[in-house]
Amino acid sequence: ATAGKVIKCKAAVCWAPKQPLSIEEIEVAPPKAHEVRIKIVATGICRSDDHVIEGEISGIKYPLILGHEAAGIVESVGEGVTDMKPGDKVIPLGIPQCGKCKCCLNPYSNLCYKNDLEKYSGMLLDNTSRFTCKGKPVHHFIGTSTFSEYTVVDDIAVAKIHQDAPLDKVCLFGCSFSTGYGSAVNTAKVKPGSTCAVFGLGGVGLSVIIGCKAAGASRIIAVDLNSDKFAKAKEFGATDFINPKDYDRPIDEVLTEMTEDGVDYAFEVIGNTGVMTSALKSTHFGYGKTVIIGLAPSTATISFDPMLILTGRVLTGAILGGFKPKDDIPKLVSDYLNKKFEFDGLVTHRLPFMKINEGFELLHKGDSIRTVLTV
Ligand code: APR
Ligand code: ZN
Ligand code: ZN
Repeated sequence: ATAGKVIKCKAAVCWAPKQPLSIEEIEVAPPKAHEVRIKIVATGICRSDDHVIEGEISGIKYPLILGHEAAGIVESVGEGVTDMKPGDKVIPLGIPQCGKCKCCLNPYSNLCYKNDLEKYSGMLLDNTSRFTCKGKPVHHFIGTSTFSEYTVVDDIAVAKIHQDAPLDKVCLFGCSFSTGYGSAVNTAKVKPGSTCAVFGLGGVGLSVIIGCKAAGASRIIAVDLNSDKFAKAKEFGATDFINPKDYDRPIDEVLTEMTEDGVDYAFEVIGNTGVMTSALKSTHFGYGKTVIIGLAPSTATISFDPMLILTGRVLTGAILGGFKPKDDIPKLVSDYLNKKFEFDGLVTHRLPFMKINEGFELLHKGDSIRTVLTV
């Protein structure tokens, strides 16, 4: 009944940095060719959305509709969309998979030339927006914009998932869970019996722990400045807990001593370049691998003694845990439905969509791991 028509609905609009989101009535245009309009059912609140609200990401164009960790149901599809139909359960993807570019064709990469991660055009691929509010166009955010009752995405930026998937849980596969879990199993390729250190125990860091455990790590050292985070980390499989505040020497020295010359794998899940260097230094010479996951401020740079790398340590990173989004996210959903892993404890708060700003307050206070908004 709504197909082909403009939908009026509620969305949380970010008009400008450093102010609360504003719930507005917006108009969502119908999908054009190779686009999909989605009714959002559940959407998580991620630190990256907050970085934009705080004005920390250069190049972002305001006003925009944030949100990139969601699940929903296809409302209608544009011309030429063959792999999805109204009623299908889907997860919008912050990085697309066109399947044709140099990166998509490379089995070792999960980025796509069509991503909007660094230029932040705020548009769909045809370089226009589907949103208006009070007569003004509103930008998209990395092609997802899930803080809205309805959104439109390019068909290369949405994954069709199993019809039995609980949307209020698998929404986390759009960002935090996939990012953390995949960093351990795909990017680091954690080996059974190994020792891992995870710096930062937010939703992403805890998902790294779930991945390390699933991969068979025997020792998982959880590091955070907030000791309240340790109980959850333990639940998911961490074996040792370090609060840098309890030590008067560099944390890499503490870890190196604890582990006979360093850990096999270190994960930085904060976005702090100082911690990235500590993570690198805490890995074992000859083979230690460090994975950068945290998003540092746009102006940040990192420097370290090149001997660290010359002597065989590896420094790497990945977006979305190295998963090829359109191919691998549906498989991850099926693995979850087949009980290959559990991640229920990641969602600490559930709120109705209209209380989105309360969700951001919980994030600021450090009270929540993940807040899921029900739309
Ligand atoms: N040393 C140790 N822990 C720290 C430090 C530090 N210097 N600074 C912050 N932390 C801890 C915080 O106490 C918090 O528990 O890091 C954790 C970060 O968690 P969240 O802010 O909830 O972040 P999360 O959503 O997990 O995302 C982490 O990954 O995808 C990126 O943009 C995201 O950069 C962010 C990072
Ligand atoms: Zn995110
Ligand atoms: Zn591509």
